[in-house]
Amino acid sequence: MSTTPDLPDPTDLSALAALGDQLSEDDDSEAVRREAAPAESSRASRHWWDRNADEYQDEHGEFLGDARFTWCPEGLDEADARLLGSPDSLKGAKVLELGAGAAQCSRWLAAQGAIPVALDISYRQLQHSRRIDLEAGGEPVAVLQADAAVLPFADGSFDLVCSAYGAVPFSADTAALMREVHRVLRPGARWVFSVTHPIRWAFPDEPGVEGLTATASYFDRTPYVEQDEHGHATYVEHHRTLGDRVRELTGAGFRLLDLVEPEWPDGHEQEWGGWSPLRGRLIPGTAIFVAQRD
Ligand SMILES: C[S@@+](CC[C@H](N)C(=O)[O-])C[C@H]1O[C@@H](n2cnc3c(N)ncnc32)[C@H](O)[C@@H]1O
Repeated sequence: MSTTPDLPDPTDLSALAALGDQLSEDDDSEAVRREAAPAESSRASRHWWDRNADEYQDEHGEFLGDARFTWCPEGLDEADARLLGSPDSLKGAKVLELGAGAAQCSRWLAAQGAIPVALDISYRQLQHSRRIDLEAGGEPVAVLQADAAVLPFADGSFDLVCSAYGAVPFSADTAALMREVHRVLRPGARWVFSVTHPIRWAFPDEPGVEGLTATASYFDRTPYVEQDEHGHATYVEHHRTLGDRVRELTGAGFRLLDLVEPEWPDGHEQEWGGWSPLRGRLIPGTAIFVAQRD
């Protein structure tokens, strides 16, 4: 039985704050490595992100900016990297953002003349998108609550699909997700997404020196699962090696144009969880896959 409370009117900000307090009550999860099926993974993600969206936006909102497209904790901006294509190609482009959170990237895309849809599995994350739009008073970003594994769009609906640390690391069947993205893209269109660099799975997720010694096998694809006292997953992340990701993309009908491993920039001192200047100068933290549909 779901424990999610009734959802308030998204324009009632005090009711939203009360809901956030209610949802962020601590649970007693233990961390394990075990299998987690697609339905269990999606359910865990939806509840975890609903419970933790307020904290996430509170902690990272300033870095993310309200209308900035940053790919990763290293701070690589799309405005500089241009992985999605030229500025001209964005004008009038129909773009789907997966795992959009508060839709900061989609808001940047809209400012470039694109027509974005920000999709996320978490209602609470999307309420933050609404909050930002209400505060700014501009045209709201179109948002949609859905699981990225099952996209509610017709074939060939989009000119571009992108994701900054969105649904991909949390989905159990990413080979199917790649096929689903391929289906909703028009021929020749790009699919660009960032994820935790796979090498990081061999190291503890710690920003300090303890995060510099490999303690797990890079080749162990067993998901990272936090589970409650009944053994139900409350948080799930799925690992793929670099080769797995390439095979999933090409198997779905994509051509890999680039694999970007952003370096930690000089002068960037802001940590993000296990991402820190110390580790960032030694090992990659992010992998960005730039793919094109056949
Ligand atoms: C690390 S956050 C990134 C959010 C945003 N892209 C950003 O850069 O702030 C991951 C997001 O993916 C969403 N997510 C996780 N699993 C998903 C799924 N299966 N389908 C759609 N969204 C999902 C979460 O709700 C969360 O908002």
